[in-house]
Amino acid sequence: MQQDDAIHITDLNKIYDNGFRALDGINLTIRRGEIFALLGPNGAGKTTLINAICGIVRPSSGSITVSGFDHATHYRQARSFIGLVPQELTTDAFESVWNTVSFSRGLFGKPRNPAYIESVLKQLSLWDKKSEQIRRLSGGMKRRVMIAKALAHEPEILFLDEPSAGVDVELRKSMWAQVRALRETGVTIILTTHYIEEAQEMADRIGVINNGKLILTECKDELMHKMGKHEMSFTLRDPITSIPPDLASYPLTLANDGNTLVLTYNTYEHNDVSDFLEKLQINGIRPKDIQSRQSSLEEIFMQLVEAN
Ligand SMILES: Nc1ncnc2c1ncn2[C@@H]1O[C@H](COP(=O)(O)OP(=O)(O)OP(=O)(O)O)[C@@H](O)[C@H]1O
Ligand SMILES: [Mg+2]
Repeated sequence: MQQDDAIHITDLNKIYDNGFRALDGINLTIRRGEIFALLGPNGAGKTTLINAICGIVRPSSGSITVSGFDHATHYRQARSFIGLVPQELTTDAFESVWNTVSFSRGLFGKPRNPAYIESVLKQLSLWDKKSEQIRRLSGGMKRRVMIAKALAHEPEILFLDEPSAGVDVELRKSMWAQVRALRETGVTIILTTHYIEEAQEMADRIGVINNGKLILTECKDELMHKMGKHEMSFTLRDPITSIPPDLASYPLTLANDGNTLVLTYNTYEHNDVSDFLEKLQINGIRPKDIQSRQSSLEEIFMQLVEAN
């Protein structure tokens, strides 16, 4: 375990009481200060993994260390570093926003600090709702209360299990900004999401989980680079009937009745099309329009899950 690791997980397994294996040999290190996005289809094991780290689900075997404290021997210390926004919202509907958030701080044995609670509520645009009962808030506001609650004891590591579920686009964007701001203050963030756009926008690293197995962990940029496809479509002035032999070595397809020539390559294999353009000219092929498209994280994700 490195000094700058926030979480270290070794050979983690979870078999539920009914015999279902939800986590299968997970090894994962979360670095301090990063935003890590955990992606995977429904039932992949994301919530189980988060709940195991947060002490809600008891692992069947394996070890978890949080900021250097081992779950098995120093659970209270390990848990004190963590804030969790669960997938299922659970709060006392009749309590006020202020009391809910303050009470949560007290649960962790932290001394009262109204100024801090105020700053959290303001940051999450909940200040004008501080005296409102939770049941009188909208769904998106309730989710923000859950975030405030998770932050109440000043955790170093924040888990967000599907933070954007049921949150509208505008609010989602403002939440992303808030999460980034939190990271600026040094908080490590682990989130699960079904919105690949969210991971693409925010994450430093991506983990993909499927059937309880972590099938990949990679820096986002690296992942896009390694698995990303770049597609260039050339609309031709005059259609062609076949690809000239001189161009046979390029990954080309002919589309649109010979009116479009499509060049597809892995982002990291080629990054210079000047040779290709020259060859087109030599062969008398003249494009009148060029469209360029990079594959999204979503396409990469689908590819990964289908292959595993
Ligand atoms: N208490 C339980 N007992 C038995 N099986 C469970 C229990 N909780 C979860 N599971 C099963 O474990 C698997 C993983 O569930 P989990 O909630 O971790 O998935 P998830 O990746 O968070 O999915 P989602 O994207 O839908 O939130 C599922 O097949 C689920 O049915
Ligand atoms: Mg889940």
